[in-house]
Amino acid sequence: MSKATIEINGKKYEFPVVEGTENELGIDIKKLRAEAGVITLDRGYKNTGSCESAITFLNGEEGVLRYRGYSIEALAEKADFLEVAYLLIFGELPTKTQLDKFYADIKEESTVDEEMKKILDGFPKSAHPMGVLSSLTSALIAFNPSSVNVESEEDMYKAIVKILGKFPVLAAWTLRKKNSLPLNYGDDSLGYVENLHKMMFEKPGKSYKVDKEVIEALDKLLILHADHEQNCSTSTVRMVGSSHAGLFASISAGISALWGPLHGGANQAVIEMLERIKEDGGDTKKFMAKAKDKEDPFRLMGFGHRVYKNFDPRAKIIKKSADEVLAQLGVDDPVLDIAKGLEKEALEDQYFVDRKLYPNVDFYSGIIYRALGIPVEMFTVMFALGRLPGWIAQWREMRLMKEPIGRPRQIYTGENLREFKEVEKR
Ligand code: ACO
Repeated sequence: MSKATIEINGKKYEFPVVEGTENELGIDIKKLRAEAGVITLDRGYKNTGSCESAITFLNGEEGVLRYRGYSIEALAEKADFLEVAYLLIFGELPTKTQLDKFYADIKEESTVDEEMKKILDGFPKSAHPMGVLSSLTSALIAFNPSSVNVESEEDMYKAIVKILGKFPVLAAWTLRKKNSLPLNYGDDSLGYVENLHKMMFEKPGKSYKVDKEVIEALDKLLILHADHEQNCSTSTVRMVGSSHAGLFASISAGISALWGPLHGGANQAVIEMLERIKEDGGDTKKFMAKAKDKEDPFRLMGFGHRVYKNFDPRAKIIKKSADEVLAQLGVDDPVLDIAKGLEKEALEDQYFVDRKLYPNVDFYSGIIYRALGIPVEMFTVMFALGRLPGWIAQWREMRLMKEPIGRPRQIYTGENLREFKEVEKR
């Protein structure tokens, strides 16, 4: 095993170097503070590994993304979302029997307590679906109070199929509430993704119909979002779960983390930005200049990524899918022309080239969601639906590995000890 030496004030300390299966190296500094009296400081954890994980491999420099060793390209082309969910959570692609049982067990759990409708009723129609979804997911705990015995595979499995069954119902209800539609349940004869689509869009008294291509595109989008190793929301899920909070509570926290425009909220922010450019007259150059101006807080949404500094492999797959779906559906949308213009300009612009800012998956996902008729405030909910298996897999792994509670340290920069003064003397 190789070692790393750190020298502090003339004294040397040795630490083991851990090597992953793809030859990634990490200095194991677990004993650093005890031995040397210092900690590492790494804002935003840009260089900090929080765990060892066997779920997702990604190499941002080379644009590689694999779930459990399978390339994202192969999975997006050949697998369906539920197979990918099983793979992520349990580590292997399911046999037909395993997959059938998995889906049957999920369907068994595809209702929520009717009392949940009262909770949903308490939200104003204007509430953002991500806030509603996070609250409803948290509220599920009240109706499923028994905590998971993580020592029991059976208990763990039950909790997993429960959340996979109930989450799409809650997601669909957030949309239906917004659209003043009656709250419904799914149709067991349909696949997971088609059922989700039906629950979202079925109208009372109208027969439900959807193009095969729409479901295929949706399935692919969910696969592309299914896991992405230790991103902000997944780290949140693991962090919350590390206190031994339950699966539903941890996922509710993950939804809140995903909501932000620098993470999952970017897909909504992309469309809002494109709309803004359109309303402003469509001058993409003007907005490119704003994005580069350090005095201006405007950023080009859907560009850049914390780990992909070459290209986002998901963006490549989804760009192709976007072209196909838009052609298939015959979509003619001026916002798309603006998107294409921005993409071209950014890829040729020195500022973006120097900083390795490429379109990310969310640049295109918003465009597809819009073409599929999914309202813009629901985009991040779609992301959450896709990310659910990843959150579950990471939570399960964290519990099975008996990870300690997550608790970073800090360098204190506040006041030194001060004398307390009574209010009259201040
Ligand atoms: N537009 C303009 N400039 C940008 C952008 C952008 N979208 N992204 C990064 N930059 C610039 C920064 O200003 C900085 O410039 P500087 O070196 O001159 O100071 C440099 O590029 C590096 O940026 P950081 O913010 O340090 O990069 P970081 O890795 O911390 O952030 C992030 C990554 C948050 C994704 C960022 O690129 C961003 O805000 N992008 C827009 C939001 C977005 O699309 N988020 C979705 C991420 S993908 C996902 O969650 C699935």
